[in-house]
Amino acid sequence: MCGIVGYVGPRDSQSILLSGLARLEYRGYDSAGIAVIDGEGDLEMRKRAGKLSVLRDDLAAHPMPDGTTGIGHTRWATHGGPTDGNAHPHLADDDRLALIHNGIIENFAEIKAELLAEGFTFRSETDTEVAAVLLGREYRATGDLLAAFRAVVARLEGAFTLLAMHQDHPGLVVGARRNSPLVIGLGEGENFLGSDVAAFVEHTRKALAIGQDQIVAITPAGVQVTDFDGAPVEVEPFEVMWDAAAADKGGWPSFMAKEVSEEPEAVANTLRGRIHDGVVSIPELDGLDDLFRGIDRIIVIACGTAAYAGMVGKYALEQWTRLPVDVELAHEFRYRDPVIGPSTLVVSISQSGETMDTLMAVKFAREAGAKTLSICNTQGATIPRESDAIVYTHAGPEVAVASTKAFVAQITALYLLALHVGRLRGAVSASAVEELARELEAVPSKITWILENDRARIEEFAAWMADTRSVLFLGRHVGYPIALEGALKLKEITYIHAEGFAAGELKHGPIALIEPGQPVFVIVPSPRASALLHAKVVSNIQEIRARGARVIAVAEEGDAAVLPFADEVLRIPLAGPLFEPLLAVVPLHIFAMGLAGAKGLDVDQPRNLAKSVTVE
Ligand code: F6R
Repeated sequence: MCGIVGYVGPRDSQSILLSGLARLEYRGYDSAGIAVIDGEGDLEMRKRAGKLSVLRDDLAAHPMPDGTTGIGHTRWATHGGPTDGNAHPHLADDDRLALIHNGIIENFAEIKAELLAEGFTFRSETDTEVAAVLLGREYRATGDLLAAFRAVVARLEGAFTLLAMHQDHPGLVVGARRNSPLVIGLGEGENFLGSDVAAFVEHTRKALAIGQDQIVAITPAGVQVTDFDGAPVEVEPFEVMWDAAAADKGGWPSFMAKEVSEEPEAVANTLRGRIHDGVVSIPELDGLDDLFRGIDRIIVIACGTAAYAGMVGKYALEQWTRLPVDVELAHEFRYRDPVIGPSTLVVSISQSGETMDTLMAVKFAREAGAKTLSICNTQGATIPRESDAIVYTHAGPEVAVASTKAFVAQITALYLLALHVGRLRGAVSASAVEELARELEAVPSKITWILENDRARIEEFAAWMADTRSVLFLGRHVGYPIALEGALKLKEITYIHAEGFAAGELKHGPIALIEPGQPVFVIVPSPRASALLHAKVVSNIQEIRARGARVIAVAEEGDAAVLPFADEVLRIPLAGPLFEPLLAVVPLHIFAMGLAGAKGLDVDQPRNLAKSVTVE
């Protein structure tokens, strides 16, 4: 949702802004625009509804003077439709000032009424233009852009990242953030701002993360960060671990195809440096032993696919730490009155680290006195900054809207956390940890086996099913969240109706959906791990087969018991019961992607969705 780029330096900024916006395209958007202060000191602006290519074509057909100070924006419509007029930047002060915004200004109506009463006019339906016009008014009063900007952010309620520049001040871009992302890129004689590091990673890997309620001013010579009152604040520099190539397709037809192929690496990189000779140690958690010893309960909060990773993680956390664990959708958790306190550990999971629902739930938990730990894939993101502890997943940049490699990395990080906390609390023995760590380390090569041996067959099978109107997914135990994930992936990228159920729940209602020919994926647990669970799932398969379902079993190699009842078997290598989800999900990701491809759909940017959901 909304991408933001800012640049000051010696180079012409248009191409820097456009390529930065292209790297943020994955966030999802429906219009784009840029503004620069040209060589004559005039502010130039161009914005267009539609994809970035529409803006690029327009600029190519009708070139705009270039300049060395600029801001750029991709907009995901909230207030007002995706039109040229509602696109950002918004101008004010006789078109001498430009402003862009990500987030929602909740009190915009009140400020707009005040400005209208004073005779100001508006050209869009957006909440953003209110901030631009207000900034123009404040600037007129003082002539001091930073002071005027401070006055504006002090008035605004809601979530926002704002960038602004004024033609009276070439070489200066000011920015502010509250509950919405903004990162600084530090160059040599040039500086950058971006919604995330992807905006500038091709120019610099040195970055600064701006905290909540902070204002930044960038010039070619330096960066100044203050709080909303203007008091200087210290900001932590960090080195961006991704390189620009990591955010390219690398020869794959889509980012999603590349990211599914990177699932083995996502697990391996998340394990790297955290297991030594069978001992799990997570360097980021050094010094936090007392925190983990002092808790009596864990609540995992997340949304969508990340929440399904949390549901898988619950089994491991409970088994290895012997602490009670609840998993809850962040937006539901936030709006009830949960019983939490200093001995509760709230673990949030977020690939982007910016999901507003999750962020608000983390803040809520902190305010209620709970300890917070963030499992996150994006450096410098807001959620880890708001948490007491961080465990990064090292899946690399995930660009396709649908989360795939981040999911397996999130489960891996949860397992490492469970082993770390379990060992610390004496709930799991050193020899058990050693064995489990060995199992974890074997996961990447098992995923690779599926990708190398079965990918083409699953894609072919998916293409054959391209006309299917509805698909059901069943699972038990850790297979249940995998059924939910299989259904979510299919519905979001193929637009086919899909539902995931706990297999045991079938006869309590969903079995009424089964009619002849209904495709049903069944995640079959290993018979070696639990003969009982396996037998129950095989019975469930028989129940649906008896009613005409077409059964596609995701089952362990060598599980002969499913063969008589399955129309199709997707094989996964042998693994311990808690490690099966990391394998069983892979054929489901390949299947969803294959089916979307067969329908000719854009797998990377499915309709109506954004990668980073920065509004509640
Ligand atoms: C589904 C998907 C979403 C995200 C959810 C949380 O494929 O990508 O359900 O998992 O929006 O996003 P993050 O992990 O960034 O908080």
